[in-house]
Amino acid sequence: MCGIVGYLGKRNATPIIIEGIKRLEYRGYDSSGIALIDAENNLKIFKKQGKIIELERSLPAPSKIFSTIGIAHTRWATHGEATSANAHPHTGCTNRLAIVHNGIIENHKQLRGQLEKNGHIFSSDTDSEVLAHLIEHFCEEDSCLKNCVQRALKLVEGTFGIAVIDSRNPRQIVAARRGSPLILGIGEKEFFITSDVAAIIIHTKKVIYLHDNELVSITPESFELTNLENEVQEPIVSEVDWDIATIDKGEYQHFMLKEIFEQPESVYNAFRGRLNEKFSTAVLGGLNMNGRELRRIKFIQLIACGTSWHAALIGKHIIESLARIPVNVEYASEYRYRNPVILDDTMVIAISQSGETADTLAALREAEARGARVMGITNTVGSTIARESEGGVYIHAGTEIGVASTKAFTSQVTVLSLLALLLGRMRHVSPKYGMQFIKEMRGIPAKIESILAQNDEIKRIAETIKDAQNALYLGRGVNYPVALEGALKLKEISYIHAEGYPAAEMKHGPIALIDEHMPVIAIALKDAIYDKIISNLEEVKARKGRIITIATEGDERVKQFSENVIYIPDTIDTLHPLLSVIPLQLLAYHCACLRGLDVDQPRNLAKSVTVE
Ligand code: AGP
Repeated sequence: MCGIVGYLGKRNATPIIIEGIKRLEYRGYDSSGIALIDAENNLKIFKKQGKIIELERSLPAPSKIFSTIGIAHTRWATHGEATSANAHPHTGCTNRLAIVHNGIIENHKQLRGQLEKNGHIFSSDTDSEVLAHLIEHFCEEDSCLKNCVQRALKLVEGTFGIAVIDSRNPRQIVAARRGSPLILGIGEKEFFITSDVAAIIIHTKKVIYLHDNELVSITPESFELTNLENEVQEPIVSEVDWDIATIDKGEYQHFMLKEIFEQPESVYNAFRGRLNEKFSTAVLGGLNMNGRELRRIKFIQLIACGTSWHAALIGKHIIESLARIPVNVEYASEYRYRNPVILDDTMVIAISQSGETADTLAALREAEARGARVMGITNTVGSTIARESEGGVYIHAGTEIGVASTKAFTSQVTVLSLLALLLGRMRHVSPKYGMQFIKEMRGIPAKIESILAQNDEIKRIAETIKDAQNALYLGRGVNYPVALEGALKLKEISYIHAEGYPAAEMKHGPIALIDEHMPVIAIALKDAIYDKIISNLEEVKARKGRIITIATEGDERVKQFSENVIYIPDTIDTLHPLLSVIPLQLLAYHCACLRGLDVDQPRNLAKSVTVE
C-alpha cells in the first residue's frame, strides 16, 4: 500500500515530509519521492528506488533548497516495476505540476491513449502518471488548479488518494480521494495531507478524514472542502486520540502480536499479483530470468540463518515435490567457510527478512564469486542482499519490528511456494494441479484468520507449559521444519529450552527425555504420513509425556493421547506449514508474556544480525 504526505505552511517542508513518509515505512514500499516548489517558484522532484535513506541522500543540502510546500510518496508497485522512473511524484510534459497517487486507475490505458494522441509523452509504466498528464491537459485552458483536478478526476475509473502541487499556484495543494484513505491535518497556520495519521500525528491531532469523491483545496490561510462537482462539503474535524508511541502497535500490546495477526494480510500480499490463473502458474518477474533460463536450472541451494533457514527447509520440500529439482539447504554461516561445491546450472537463493544478515550476505558473495546465479528473497527493499542479488522476490510482509520473526516467515514460505509452482509448471506439474495449488493458496489467509480466532484458547494452553524448563517439538515431512521454528520461537522469547525433532527420530535417543515434566508439542495433521506420527505420539504417551497436538479440524483420534489439541483447517500437504506454524507462534508469544519477559526485544537478540 502506498503512502502519501504533503505539507503547506511556514516551516521548511522537506524534513517534515521525509519524517512523515518514514513513519509509513511499515506499509512496505519499493521506492519513494518528493516534490517541492522553491522560493523562485520552480518545481523540484527527487525520487529513488529502494529505501527512503537513499532518497534522503539524493536531496540537496537544506541550505540549497528551502521550500514551505511539498508532497511525498512511498510506492509499492502495482503497475510498473520498482524503478526510479516509476516512483512518484509524477509530472506532465511541462514539469510544472506534480502528483502523488495511491490506488489503481482502471481506465488508465484508455486515458493514456487519448493523451498520447494529444501529444503527451509518458516517462513511466505506471497508471498514476496518467493523472499528471490529464490534470496538465486541463491546465492548458484553466489556471485554477482545483478546477483542473476536479475535471480530471471525473474522467477516472478506479481508486485514488491524490495530492497535487503546481508551480503556477505555488501556495496551494489540491488533494482528493476515492477508495484510498486521505486525511487533512490542521496545524497552527499550516496544513498537512496524508494517507495515514501516523505520518503527521507529531504535528497535529486535528484531522479531517476525506470521504470518497471529496476534494480539498489548501492555501496557507485556509482550506475548502468540496466534492468533484465543486459543491462545498461540511468539514468534520476529528481529534486523534493516539500518540505516536502506541500508534505503531495499534491496539496490540506488542509488535510481535500485531505481526502475528497481520499474517492473513501479509500472506495475501506475498502472493498478490503473482498468481496466474490463465496458465495456472506463478509470476515472479523480479527473478529477471526468462523461461529458458528457468528451465535450465538443475540444482538449487538455499542459504539463510535462523527462521529464514527454517523457511528454506520448507522451500526444499515444496520445490522438490513440485519441480523435482534437488535443493540443498545451507546454514549461511557454515556455507561461507565450507568451500561449497556449486555445479553448473545451480541457482543460489539467499533468504533474509532484513536483507542485511552478515552471514547470509557473505555466503551470497561466496556463491557469486564462484559464478553461481544468485537470487534474493527478502522483505527489505533496497537492502544489501536485494541490491547484490541478480534478481529476486520481495515478500512484501511490511516492516517486521518484533525481533522474533513471524509474518516474514510465512511470507517467505509463500514466496518459496510460488517459486515451486513456477518451476514445477515448467516441468511436471499439470495445469489442473497448478489450479488446485493456486486455489488452496488463495484460501490460506482466511484459514489463518480462523486459527487466530483461537488466540484466547491458545493463551490458556500456554498457561500449562509456561513454567517448563524444556520442551520438545515434533513434526514429520514438511512439518518437521515447522517443529524447528516453533522451538526457536519458544526459546528466543520465553527462554525455555526447546528442541525441534523429526518425530520418528525421537526413539533414537530423545525419548529418554520424556516424562511428565516435559511438554511435547506435536504437529499431527491429516497428511500422507498421519498414521506414522500418531504411532510416534503413542510412544510418548506411554512414557507419561504431556502432549499438545496441532491437529486437523475434525480429527477425534488425537484426543486420546493429547492433554490439549489445537485444531487447524486442512489444505494440501505442501501448504500445511503456513497454518501449522500459527498456533506455535501464539504459544511462544503467550508463554513469554506469562513469564513477564520483553517479547519484542528479547535479551541478547538483535532484529538483524549484521555482524559475524
Ligand atoms: C528469528 O525469529 C530470529 N529473529 C532470527 O533467527 C532471524 O531469523 C535470523 O537472524 C535471520 O534474519 P534474516 O531473515 O533477517 O536474515
